[in-house]
Amino acid sequence: MTIHCLGSINVDHVHRLPHFPAPGETLQDTGYAVGLGGKGTNQAIAAHRAGGDVRLIGAVGADGGWARERVAETGLSLDAIAAVEAATGHAVIYVDAGGENQIVIHGGANRAIPAAHVDAALAAAAPGDWWLTQNETNAVVESTRAAKARGLRTAHACAPFDAEAARAVLPHIDLLAVNEGEAAALATHLGVTPETIPVPALLMTLGARGAVWRGNGETVAVDAFPAEAVDTTGAGDTFTGYALAGLDAGLPVAEALRRASAAAALAVARPGAAAAIPTRDEVDVFLKEHA
Ligand code: RIB
Repeated sequence: MTIHCLGSINVDHVHRLPHFPAPGETLQDTGYAVGLGGKGTNQAIAAHRAGGDVRLIGAVGADGGWARERVAETGLSLDAIAAVEAATGHAVIYVDAGGENQIVIHGGANRAIPAAHVDAALAAAAPGDWWLTQNETNAVVESTRAAKARGLRTAHACAPFDAEAARAVLPHIDLLAVNEGEAAALATHLGVTPETIPVPALLMTLGARGAVWRGNGETVAVDAFPAEAVDTTGAGDTFTGYALAGLDAGLPVAEALRRASAAAALAVARPGAAAAIPTRDEVDVFLKEHA
């Protein structure tokens, strides 16, 4: 089936730093690069590189030519990327010596996707397809509710985390992708435990401890693969996209998560967000090496 990803498209400005700046501190970077990113775009590319049939739905501004070219290079179609009167989304990303990051985003066009554009994308989707969202665009709740009503399976990654935004979309989703911190914060907000967040399926990444799936009455845990972290930006997106593509392809949950875990390990060992996402062949080789 097709994975329709209503997602952000960002130009990532990445500064490498010896350490994160303290309040009031001016810091010289040790490296600078511009790359394609956005949680939605990263997840769409990951699902596509995992072998999924993926459609990226989003928007850029009049300054969005560079981002369009980079998306086109990945093999994803530009058909569902609207042109709007807002600046193309961007992110300023600090990466420290340990590969950890701090990210500031400007939503711009990602928060100005016309409702008619989203409706047209939904009209082209078929029952059984996936509707995948994150918290970096407008129209998340409305489109997810409509997707569910049309018989699509719905997945949501509640990043960047906002408790109220997560609560609003929760009743309409089949699969929630979270990291441990997001799960804890959402559980506190809802007055439940992370284990009892009320969704049919929960996919929780645990950093170096791997990931756990809870759904269909089963709990499946996978270990993380060891990795030399160069840049963790987009690793969670890589995991989500790979996991969803694997589930969509009918892989057993443990196998879908194992492949997602391998993809994330490869991604953190490379700089950048979209650029760091491995291909299916690279994941196959990695898994053979780590059998
Ligand atoms: O998850 C990583 C992404 O977050 C970056 O690519 C950046 O664009 C922000 O959206």
